[in-house]
Amino acid sequence: MTEPTGFSDRMLSLGLARVSEAAALASARLIGRGDEKAADQAAVNAMRDQLNLLDIKGTVVIGEGERDEAPMLYIGEEVGNGKGPEVDIALDPLEGTTLTAKDMPNALTVIAMAPRGTLLHAPDVYMEKLAIGPGLRRGVVTMDMSPAERVSALAAAKGCSTQDITVCVLDRPRHQDMIAELRSTDCAIRLITDGDVAGVIHCAEPSTGIDMYMGAGGAPEGVLAAAALKCMGGQMFGKLLFRNDDEKGRAKKAGIKNLDRVYTRDDMVTADVIFAATGVTDGSILAGIKREPGFLTAETILMRSKTGSVRRMSYRNPIERSPGHER
Ligand code: FBP
Repeated sequence: MTEPTGFSDRMLSLGLARVSEAAALASARLIGRGDEKAADQAAVNAMRDQLNLLDIKGTVVIGEGERDEAPMLYIGEEVGNGKGPEVDIALDPLEGTTLTAKDMPNALTVIAMAPRGTLLHAPDVYMEKLAIGPGLRRGVVTMDMSPAERVSALAAAKGCSTQDITVCVLDRPRHQDMIAELRSTDCAIRLITDGDVAGVIHCAEPSTGIDMYMGAGGAPEGVLAAAALKCMGGQMFGKLLFRNDDEKGRAKKAGIKNLDRVYTRDDMVTADVIFAATGVTDGSILAGIKREPGFLTAETILMRSKTGSVRRMSYRNPIERSPGHER
């Protein structure tokens, strides 16, 4: 059924899975080769080729960077074959370039699509993020609380001890104080070296054992994570962080007026969204690209916020017909 906006998410979602699959297959050849740039480029090329086959009038709102920084999938680039609905696209062709180059867990390809004008145009600055999974009272944890207060509040809401709470945090020097404060609560901390889209998604996937995500990471990745949580359920908050005037200028250029605003998940993604991610390296949410004689297999998670449906798809393709592997 077509909605007034013309955003036929049901039909478009399978196409979106193809886009993230293609990017993952293309970057597979570069897993563990120590070359972040080449891995990213392979994913970008494949993602763009597939995206341009879709029946959409798409605009990249979260992409590889500003037009003068990124030759492909730059912010504002028109994508799709121009025949379908007007949509916003948020993408990260390779979320975890270092993870891929070093063959470490949780590298993903990620893309989200929503009706035109409904995804936050987040500039390429840091964002302070806070996320928890579904089924909890709204506002049980807030950005105003200290890290320790959040752990206590979440433990009380879950009816468990703070020792039973696991928090996921990017392992960065900037998080040293936060980690020390979290340690004082006796909670467990899962430190990740990269990939905070997966870090946030962990909260909505019970098998990961993670209850809460917090800390500063890329703002573009924040919007992608908000799109995923809107499909899976869960709460997320984000506040842009600026280190200098240039970064403030980027935000203003992106149309952001209130630089101190705390965004909720639904402020970052204001309408129904579809989201797809494919595993590049093995991770806690998705298996990475598997190589068997003659074939590559990719695992994709495909979600729609309208229905809350989460589909896992396994795609096996002959190696020589996989993007980036043609001979
Ligand atoms: P890349 O894939 O671009 O390398 O980003 C990985 C990532 O870990 C993101 O998931 C995260 O939001 C960001 O980098 C954190 O930035 P920094 O490495 O500067 O702390």
